[in-house]
Amino acid sequence: MPVDLNNAQPLAWDSATLDADTKAMLDNLQPNILRAHVREHLSVLFVRFNDAAEGRAFLRHVATTWMKSARRHLEEVRDFAGRGRRGTPYVGIGISKAGYRDLGHSVEEVRAFGDRAFRDGMKRRVAEVEDPPVEQWERAYQREIHAVVLIGDDRPGPVATLRDEIIGALPASARLLGEEIGRGMRNPAGDGIEHFGYVDGRSQPLFLKDEVDREPRKRWDPAFPLANVLVPDPFSPDPRRHHGSYLVFRKLEQNVRAFKEIEERLADDLGLKGGDRHRAGAMLVGRFKDGTPLTGRAKAGGGPVANDFTFEGDDGSKCPFSGHIRKTNPRSFGREVLMARRGQTYGRRGDQPWDDAPPATRPSGEVGLLFMAFNSSLVDQFEFTQRTWAGNPDFENPATGHDPVIGQGERAIKVTFPKVWGKPEQSPPQAQVPQTVTMKGGEYFFAPSLAYLRGL
Ligand code: HEM
Repeated sequence: MPVDLNNAQPLAWDSATLDADTKAMLDNLQPNILRAHVREHLSVLFVRFNDAAEGRAFLRHVATTWMKSARRHLEEVRDFAGRGRRGTPYVGIGISKAGYRDLGHSVEEVRAFGDRAFRDGMKRRVAEVEDPPVEQWERAYQREIHAVVLIGDDRPGPVATLRDEIIGALPASARLLGEEIGRGMRNPAGDGIEHFGYVDGRSQPLFLKDEVDREPRKRWDPAFPLANVLVPDPFSPDPRRHHGSYLVFRKLEQNVRAFKEIEERLADDLGLKGGDRHRAGAMLVGRFKDGTPLTGRAKAGGGPVANDFTFEGDDGSKCPFSGHIRKTNPRSFGREVLMARRGQTYGRRGDQPWDDAPPATRPSGEVGLLFMAFNSSLVDQFEFTQRTWAGNPDFENPATGHDPVIGQGERAIKVTFPKVWGKPEQSPPQAQVPQTVTMKGGEYFFAPSLAYLRGL
């Protein structure tokens, strides 16, 4: 029996009654797809092969020497919670369409991948999501990338060691085209944040029963079927039991200084005073810096970062329709669009991203987000979110504007913002806030099953 990816019940992965096919699926699935792996320290290596046999041997070596399965990862998480026993580092592999070709898969074979965006590669999808032209991407991303190797852990030491070992194992025919270093950032409450200073990574589709059971879920159901992220791995020995996931990687540079100036200007325009000024940024993101959802409260605070909410009954006078989290997850529909986000921040800075220091003290470049997400369809999930939701100023309601955080392309129409939280009075129409996130390059990959990688 093939694994039922559409089962609405979250997966009880350690249940004694788990069927053999699902066990085989977990034993052959890469970690970090169904459940986020610790990756406070992250190295991302972009590789080009140039020799099919040597490329295959390299991937097989990485898989058999350093990679664990999704099931092993889940057991490690359980052992850490119960006995404090530290887990092993994460090593993940993604292969691009060009990579599959270079590894010896024919054009006809590669058509087995159902996803059009994957088969095109990110460079040929620029127009679809209004990305900058490829000539403006960083050089490494302008090249033909065949594979990405992800190495993550909560300590820098194991990542550095593994990174050196894996680079050392590259055959002479292969090239290391580039490397990104991700480093997690946390606010004083210990929550993970991104460079604009906001808590990030809180809202996720959850697939596992133990994760779902820990969540309050009166209004928002965080449980999702495996079909949101898994597809049969077409080249595995048994695609009914061996799965993979499409991985989108995008380097997104953040102009923090400009974003902070925008927050200040918007607060001035709306006449917001004192603690109310933080509402300006919250209207752009949809959450306050501490993660408090704007649709639920006019001010930050209120305990652990909530995720049990919808926008029901909010006509845009609390959280604008353009707010980043409202654009990218409207919550009352579109559940099949949600991806498993697994990004990490990059770049070092001397200031504290969460405080109220003047914008002039903030970095204007060289920092940002290594956006990564697992999808079962790049076209219907990542690209749909970027284009049809974030990039559409008329989404949900006419003239509500682009996503102020990730919207790309011209922002011609004027928009209004609520002046008082929950009240109908709107600001006079004003230009949309300028773009402060710039795509510097990326690629679409498929994270294949371990069964495929071990058999190369
Ligand atoms: C949520 C920031 C890029 C999709 C969030 C949150 C923040 C944030 C602060 C709230 C935390 C949470 O609810 O988990 C950013 C920044 C980005 C970026 C600074 C770029 C530098 C993207 C991109 C996409 C995306 C490229 C997809 C096209 C989402 C989704 C959520 C989210 C789906 C969860 C919404 C929900 O379920 O409520 N982002 N993000 N983000 N973001 Fe982004």
